[in-house]
Amino acid sequence: MGENRFGGCVAQRGQLSTFRARRWGRGFPKSAQAAYGHLLQRWGIHLDRESGQSLEPQAFFDEGLAGYAVEIGCGGGEHVVAQALLFPERGFIACEIHTRGVLRLLRSIEACRLHNVRVYAGDGLGLVSRFVPASIDGLFTLFPDPWPKRRHYGRRLFQPDTVGVLAGALRAGACWRFATDCSSYAAWAHACLRDSSMRLVSEGMGVPPRVDWPVTRYQCKAQRAGREVVFSIWQR
Ligand SMILES: C[S@@+](CC[C@H](N)C(=O)[O-])C[C@H]1O[C@@H](n2cnc3c(N)ncnc32)[C@H](O)[C@@H]1O
Repeated sequence: MGENRFGGCVAQRGQLSTFRARRWGRGFPKSAQAAYGHLLQRWGIHLDRESGQSLEPQAFFDEGLAGYAVEIGCGGGEHVVAQALLFPERGFIACEIHTRGVLRLLRSIEACRLHNVRVYAGDGLGLVSRFVPASIDGLFTLFPDPWPKRRHYGRRLFQPDTVGVLAGALRAGACWRFATDCSSYAAWAHACLRDSSMRLVSEGMGVPPRVDWPVTRYQCKAQRAGREVVFSIWQR
């Protein structure tokens, strides 16, 4: 990926993270902290960080399922929960770093009695980079933090190297869905995807190109604010 494509700002993510670490914060009661610990114990993915062993997505589920998809940055989990209800035969791995979002998702898993969602309360990129190559059947990155200031571009989830890693985790023919309300990020992410030999299957402005694409919280927020949303589906 050449320098000129991004205005001389080719990002090397290196040790930069795509998020700012946040603690529990004010107003997070002890009871919520206890619920978080208890529910994460049941539905969470707990990794041995020391072990360099590759991971198989099916290992996180109690039963064999018909394919596994990952969502990185699922927020409160509205999209992944809707997907899991639509496709109970498939497994979904939802990654989120923000504690309140994780707790909201964990509560939805309980409320909807979902057996096919697992939660990774950490850096989704770190998780997927440990997956066996070509082991997942779908990837969702919906409204990743846009980091619109040029000096922060290095924090974007989409970078030439990270997109290559994520694409490598997808099986041949598997799809990656992306959405953003930031036009500079759409161009940037699409360039990274093209450079990773992902093939554009469909693109939509304002509405997702497929009906089985549940709306997310950020999509609602962007559309309420009158921002244009870009949706795209890419195939490995
Ligand atoms: C703008 S929000 C979008 C949330 C949701 N996808 C939606 O559309 O409503 C982006 C989310 O990605 C999360 N995030 C950013 N980088 C992440 C990473 N590397 N792993 C997991 N979550 C991440 C943030 O904490 C935040 O909740």
